[in-house]
Amino acid sequence: MSNILELKDVWKVYDLGKIRIEVLKGVSLEIEKNDFVVILGPSGSGKSTLLNIMSCLDVPTSGSVHLEGSDVSALSEDELAQVRGRTIGFVFQQFNLLPHLTALENVTLPSIFQGVSKEERDRRARKHLDEVGLSDRLDHRPSELSGGEKQRVAIARSLVNNPHMIVADEPTGNVDSKTGRHIMEILQKLRDEEERTVIVVTHDRELRDFANKVVNIKDGEVDQDSKK
Ligand SMILES: Nc1ncnc2c1ncn2[C@@H]1O[C@H](COP(=O)(O)OP(=O)(O)O)[C@@H](O)[C@H]1O
Ligand SMILES: [Mg+2]
Repeated sequence: MSNILELKDVWKVYDLGKIRIEVLKGVSLEIEKNDFVVILGPSGSGKSTLLNIMSCLDVPTSGSVHLEGSDVSALSEDELAQVRGRTIGFVFQQFNLLPHLTALENVTLPSIFQGVSKEERDRRARKHLDEVGLSDRLDHRPSELSGGEKQRVAIARSLVNNPHMIVADEPTGNVDSKTGRHIMEILQKLRDEEERTVIVVTHDRELRDFANKVVNIKDGEVDQDSKK
């Protein structure tokens, strides 16, 4: 089976007493290993909710999610955290770097929790910062970096546990469009060279060019799903 991820009839519903909010309404999707997926939709359409479920940050109200063949739709918090640490690298719109740590320290952080030795952590972090073109910024703190550089640090951090899948929620949302394209090119290179699966959520329709699979989402439903 070459699917890394399979969602079947996934619903996410919030029951707020008087009102019931149906955020995802029966989403089914298959993502193959080494796909570059762009999930497109307007603000409020359910993109982040969907990505969180795809990346084990959240569980569906009903329906199933299989990641690398295992059912992850009903795992406990601890089990989900373990799957995330082993399999998935995360990139966020707001970068989520720790302000008092250097670029190198920020990148090593996720590997501390995986029990990797200090030498190995530093070696990996330097390698990944080099891959994103930031070898000369190792000792800079986030406040001393541009938006694009911060996002490149965040991409290097997402790679440090050698994930099979990278997920990015609006990774270009806080940078100008030229820098945004550069960020997408780096993600594309990681996918092409390292056989990783990359999933990007965005409201920016221009970014569909980077994908081999585009998923359009509207009001919590997959409107159109096309593969190049
Ligand atoms: N915890 C929650 N409780 C209630 N409603 C939520 C919750 N999280 C998200 N929503 C609602 O779900 C809808 C989709 O949100 P989201 O997935 O963040 O959309 P997008 O990322 O496409 O902007 C929104 O209307 C939002 O208000
Ligand atoms: Mg969102």
